[in-house]
Amino acid sequence: MNGKCRWFQVLLVVLIFMSANLMGAAQDTPLARTPPMGWNSWNHFACEVSDRVVRAQADAMVRSGMKAAGYTYVLIDDCWEGQRDAEGYIHPNAKFPNMKALADYVHARGLKIGIYSSPGPKTCGGYEGSYGHEERDAQTYAAWGIDYLKYDLCSYDGMGDQIVAYGKMGDALKKTGRPIVYALCQYGMERGWRWAASVGGNLWRTDDDIRDNYYTMAQFGFGQNGLEKYAGPGHWNDPDMLEVGNGGMTEDEYRTQMSLWCLLAAPLIAGNDLTRMPPATLAMLTNPDVIAVDQDPLGAQGRRVSQEGDLEVWMKPLADGSKAVGLFNRGWGAMPVTVDFRSIGLGDSAAVSDLWSRTDLDTFKQEYTATVPPHGVVMINVKSGAK
Ligand code: GLA
Repeated sequence: MNGKCRWFQVLLVVLIFMSANLMGAAQDTPLARTPPMGWNSWNHFACEVSDRVVRAQADAMVRSGMKAAGYTYVLIDDCWEGQRDAEGYIHPNAKFPNMKALADYVHARGLKIGIYSSPGPKTCGGYEGSYGHEERDAQTYAAWGIDYLKYDLCSYDGMGDQIVAYGKMGDALKKTGRPIVYALCQYGMERGWRWAASVGGNLWRTDDDIRDNYYTMAQFGFGQNGLEKYAGPGHWNDPDMLEVGNGGMTEDEYRTQMSLWCLLAAPLIAGNDLTRMPPATLAMLTNPDVIAVDQDPLGAQGRRVSQEGDLEVWMKPLADGSKAVGLFNRGWGAMPVTVDFRSIGLGDSAAVSDLWSRTDLDTFKQEYTATVPPHGVVMINVKSGAK
């Protein structure tokens, strides 16, 4: 074989190898490419969740326009579990007569369904956990048509190595062959964000349980600064679910949660009763410009760029080169908050638009200042250069 021919052969092998890899990558679209969006039963219903409640929420998700806005996952939290049979298979309790039929109902509406368990023998609510039954449970979930598992540490705490326990369920889910989003819930213990993706986690809680008050929400949300390097397509930090619409915060405070969660590329899991949403709640959960920040394909988590007492500026880089910016006021009186364009990596002049009101403002030089209500936010998009 002459030299030319050998080179041609080598080239051919390289080309075949590259195209096989490309095809593999295309088939292998990662789960949770953008932060998962959906609804979870816990914040509003706790143990009052039932088949009837879940069906009603799925219907409301479609009817209200939440589905059209991007909310997809209908998530059953704790309190669905019944007993194991003689062979060790888990069965739902009497409130869930037929889990497969419920999954079919949710799927028929173009939505996905999630369930909950624990690596320990018991869940936080004292129901049956998956300890010693990981593979059997993963197979059961897959057979029911489950698309998402929240796996909550609870009684496993102190029993052994968390990484091993979460890895066991991660492997069991993979073995089913069904794409199942894996949500770790261990409240950020042992700095979970450092290893959660390595055990197959698509998202992981970074904190304890959220409460429907400004203090807890702000502590968790603003506390995410520094975790941005652990987030990206397929794997996200989760400061816990939304409380928007549950009644414990003012409209400005809920707007702060929604804005901050979107700047953080956090999962957007509504926790209110979707069947009874006042228009203001629905509008807050479904603003397309705000949601687009969360779902931006770059998948970068935002960070704090400046802080002066109660006033904070946060920035999230977006795929089109522009920046989403949150001007936050954590204090008790309205205050002006300024973003300096250089501090967010832009030049001297930039076009600013208001994301909540969906209006273009103007081109500004060097900085932009807005008056921000107490416990509130002004959320803007900032684009380099004049309009
Ligand atoms: C823990 C979790 C909550 C919820 C409850 C259910 O507290 O952090 O999100 O799942 O358990 O018991």
